[in-house]
Amino acid sequence: MQLIQGSKMIRPSKRVQVFQDSIFGIMSKKANEHNAINLSQGFPDFDGPDFVKEYALEAIKDGKNQYSPFPGIIELRESVSQYLKSYYDLDYCKEGEVSICCGATEGIFLSILSIINPGDEVIVFEPFYDSYISSIQVAGGIPKVVTLNSPDFSFTPEDLENVYSSQVKAIILNNPHNPTGRVFTSSELKIVRDFCLKYDLMAISDEVYEFLTFDKEEHIPLASLEGMQERTLGIYSAGKTFGLTGWKIGWVCAPERLSSGLRKLHQYITFCVSTPMQYALARSLMHLKDYVPTFKEDYQSKRDLFYSGMKEIGFDFKKPEGTYFMMVPIHQITKMSDVDFAYHLIEKKRVAAIPPSAFYLKSREGEKFLRFCFAKKEETLLEALKFLKELQV
Ligand SMILES: Cc1ncc(COP(=O)(O)O)c(C=O)c1O
Repeated sequence: MQLIQGSKMIRPSKRVQVFQDSIFGIMSKKANEHNAINLSQGFPDFDGPDFVKEYALEAIKDGKNQYSPFPGIIELRESVSQYLKSYYDLDYCKEGEVSICCGATEGIFLSILSIINPGDEVIVFEPFYDSYISSIQVAGGIPKVVTLNSPDFSFTPEDLENVYSSQVKAIILNNPHNPTGRVFTSSELKIVRDFCLKYDLMAISDEVYEFLTFDKEEHIPLASLEGMQERTLGIYSAGKTFGLTGWKIGWVCAPERLSSGLRKLHQYITFCVSTPMQYALARSLMHLKDYVPTFKEDYQSKRDLFYSGMKEIGFDFKKPEGTYFMMVPIHQITKMSDVDFAYHLIEKKRVAAIPPSAFYLKSREGEKFLRFCFAKKEETLLEALKFLKELQV
């Protein structure tokens, strides 16, 4: 196609010019080119539960196929409100405080855009889920980055104090944490709570892996800490909970004044999300008590299998406490950077992982790790481990 020289049409807005292609797309493309086992992007290579899919088919056949109310169908908001009460003793009003959106990704975007003004600062822990930074940038905000201290990926009150200024308006916490697999302790959550109360900050709490905690770890929503519910936007994802990432349905739970702000944006960005899928999820969430224990067990055995295989190969690190990711240190094995080593593994070993330097802004820590996703069939994990053995770098 011929472009008109000097035409304004060929220039995207300044807002989008700052963005790079997402690392997930880049690595998946490369993995496909080399027919590599894709342990990079975070999605299962097996299907979600039959009962959820059956409910979706029933909803479609039942004619639930037109636009829904823009905050989501009331049945789904009711189910969300009920499970948050029964699991965490959190009270959210289904009418004004639960909003259904297009995956947690839209929830994050709406939350940030509806509270951040140009020039406001937002505290973000690195490594981070990459959409946080892009959403802050679109809002005209400024990320203030706190690096989680490896090898434990922990943080202290001083780490937060060091980035504080009077321009800081909010903090984003992701717990359980992608990519490190950390489940933050109640003391760490209290550090965040005390900091928010001290400086009157809002919190955006990305809890999409709420049901992926292992061993004796239990998920503690940030909003359940005293004084936090009124200042927290909690973000959740059906895609993660039911292993149906392609459904792209999530919810944001927040006090009415915050929810009404983000709903204003949502009505012009997506308006509403797939109606039959919402009906399916409204019914599926009622079965969490039966479903979640097996879900956790399955993922825990995948974690154990992949972890012991990686240890045998010579990678030395702590078992992840949650999520379906492992942040694996590579500096004991190679002098290559994460990006070079990730390409090397795809080309020579046919295994794809994510180079996590893409999840860091401030420090170069990410160069010392690779992130592997273990949300894969046992045979996929075993095959990847077989390829990774005899690593000669
Ligand atoms: C920490 C975190 N937040 C949000 C998301 C996005 O969730 P969704 O697919 O529901 O948009 C992901 C997906 O990988 C994630 O890891």
